[in-house]
Amino acid sequence: MDKLLIQGGVSLSGEIRAAGAKNSALPILAATLLTDETVKISNLPHLYDITTMLELLGSMGIEPMLDETLTVEVNASTVSKLSAPYALVKTMRASILVLGPMLAHFGQAEVALPGGCAIGSRPVNLHIQALQKMGANIVVEDGYIKASVDGRLKGARIFFDLVTVTGTENVLMAATLADGQTIIENAAKEPEVVDLANCLIAMGAEIKGHGTDTIVVNGKPRLHGCSYSVMPDRIETGTYLIAAAATRGRVRVKDTVPGTLEAVLLKLEEAGAQIQVGEDWIELDMHGKRPKAVSLRTAPHPAFPTDMQAQFAAMNAVASGVGIITETVFENRFMHVHEMNRMGASMQVQGNTVTITGVPTLRGAPVMATDLRASASLVIAGLVADNETLVDRIYHIDRGYECIEEKMQLLGARIRRLP
Ligand code: EPZ
Repeated sequence: MDKLLIQGGVSLSGEIRAAGAKNSALPILAATLLTDETVKISNLPHLYDITTMLELLGSMGIEPMLDETLTVEVNASTVSKLSAPYALVKTMRASILVLGPMLAHFGQAEVALPGGCAIGSRPVNLHIQALQKMGANIVVEDGYIKASVDGRLKGARIFFDLVTVTGTENVLMAATLADGQTIIENAAKEPEVVDLANCLIAMGAEIKGHGTDTIVVNGKPRLHGCSYSVMPDRIETGTYLIAAAATRGRVRVKDTVPGTLEAVLLKLEEAGAQIQVGEDWIELDMHGKRPKAVSLRTAPHPAFPTDMQAQFAAMNAVASGVGIITETVFENRFMHVHEMNRMGASMQVQGNTVTITGVPTLRGAPVMATDLRASASLVIAGLVADNETLVDRIYHIDRGYECIEEKMQLLGARIRRLP
């Protein structure tokens, strides 16, 4: 099991490019199931989760063609098995994203029920209820979601009790082939949902209101192929900017979209960072100063993203003052706190809030990654610690961060991967 060995004490400086967004690439790869024509997707990130999704399509009898730049061509007309087995779903719960498109295009789908994960129970009841409202017959038995529909799904008015990103995406994809109009109320507004909608529109779907809390879809009998480039990863971008702030450095992230990170950039300015943005780049400069602690509360977009709170906890750990972080999306997203306290941080968890009193520096220690974003925050903690930190179980990181040690080395970090 790979580990990352980090020698702290370096201020990050330099320039890196953001990879394609994992949380946009995954639904877009699932959307290829909606047509019998070829869909060409570029700017895919080199991540385990992308490989898993391609394996999942492969297990269904589809043969994605990859070129050396990881541009992929998918043609779902060769599909032979309408199921997503537990062996793959257990490694990536986003496999649930094949449920909607498989059902809408082929009239049936069998998807292993994704288990919970470190950050929470993560049920998919809202996905199931919405598809049932569109006319699907769905039973959950033996750990599988077994869905079918006679003929086409029907357009329906869907109201999500909770904002759900992949729930919105599953229904959005299913609605593109449904008979009639579907209105999705209380829809997720994340930029990745908008990216998926734009790809579906390029495939001939009729969608309005994506990026707002009401999405209207007029179903079509079929969709056609297209070529589409995945949007840059805003979470990866933010992670490197936060690492630069925590280490008092100066970093520019290129090939990114500043408009998808407003809440994060405002918090970084509150922490004392000087932020400059261009059309496709963001530069953060701390001018060598210690960051100031910030308080934040996570919530669905455009509020502060839950996928970035662990990284801010690492910055707050060594900031001046006290920062309070409240997590309202997931029930158990503070696993990194205990590991950072072992490094000398001063963090107290009370329910869904953690109070962090900044300390001058952390002490490196062996720590263990538990989930994707917590792992990234432990790398940041290692960067600001005063000696060596060994981060174990970094397969979590490889699921969501492309070549993290190489990109960090480009920024001057003393970090290397141990087998
Ligand atoms: C997506 O997960 C992202 N994953 C997550 O990113 C992200 O943290 C999350 O959205 C919130 O922004 C992908 O896009 C692949 P939700 P998702 O459905 O869709 C509850 C990362 O680090 N809920 O928006 O699974 C749920 O328990 C990952 O890249 C139900 O109760 O999240 C949670 O409390 C982690 N029933 C809340 O809604 C349902 O049917 C939001 O979850 C669905 C969700």
